[in-house]
Amino acid sequence: MSVGAKPAFVDIDPETGNIDPAAAEAAITPGTRVVIPVHFAGLPANLDALAEIAKRRQVAVLEDAAHALGASVGDEKVGGCAKSQMAIFSFHPVKAITTGEGGAVLTNDDHLAERVRTWRNHGIKRYPAQGSWYYEIESLGSNARLTDFACALGRAQLKTLDVRISERQGIAAAYDRLLDPFADHVIKPPKPPDGTRHAWHLYVIRFKDPSVREVVYREMQAAGIGVQVHYVPAHWHPVFKPFGAPPRGSLSNTEAWYEASLSLPIYPGLTYDDQVRVISVLKRSLEIASQETL
Ligand SMILES: Cc1ncc(COP(=O)(O)O)c(C=O)c1O
Repeated sequence: MSVGAKPAFVDIDPETGNIDPAAAEAAITPGTRVVIPVHFAGLPANLDALAEIAKRRQVAVLEDAAHALGASVGDEKVGGCAKSQMAIFSFHPVKAITTGEGGAVLTNDDHLAERVRTWRNHGIKRYPAQGSWYYEIESLGSNARLTDFACALGRAQLKTLDVRISERQGIAAAYDRLLDPFADHVIKPPKPPDGTRHAWHLYVIRFKDPSVREVVYREMQAAGIGVQVHYVPAHWHPVFKPFGAPPRGSLSNTEAWYEASLSLPIYPGLTYDDQVRVISVLKRSLEIASQETL
């Protein structure tokens, strides 16, 4: 929007929580420039389908890979941009690795790389042929420079990324087992297809009866368990209203996901005993919810 673009919101696949490629294609108009899939929770979106659509309809693909550092599909790491023009990572403190704040843009396109480098540095372009001091501000930009200190922090953690993701995978697998007895009430997060590596940034469960979510959230928070809701649907935010965001009720899969979902704690260092406690508080909270909603 800050570059004059108008977002078109499209619904998710109700099984994966990721963008529905058919819905994305249906939203493409002659004015469309780019499709922006999020790899929600760390599960790679269906880039095969999106890349095929993008090629046929002549639009670019920009991956919002904020959740998916360390994820891969077959031999292709998310961020390798094998099927997109660009991918972004976030290094916010809750992410797989952190630089405090900040992130990274990845692309295999030299021209795009140069434009991003210029933008992050106030639109400054240097012309050494006219003197090593000489530069011009050729376009609007920003100060989006990550400090060297922050980069050092991130690079040190990058060495342990595989271990961190493996630990998250172990935590997710343990939750999957601990949740087996809750099949009447709880839908577990989607499993990655064979050959796909999930980054498990989030472990999102959904309640078969969404009306219990509020009570369960309240009870688990009261017991000191840091559950969260991901996310309030983007098209509900007032900032998008002047840009033609669709009204509430118009993206049914997205809204159903929001109403039913709860993210359980997942982070390196979370022990199996912690997880047993999370699930026992979940059990108690579901019992309280069923009494309150009688
Ligand atoms: C899916 C997604 N995209 C983008 C962002 C923005 O990342 P940042 O705050 O590092 O700019 C976030 C932040 O959590 C996110 O979850």
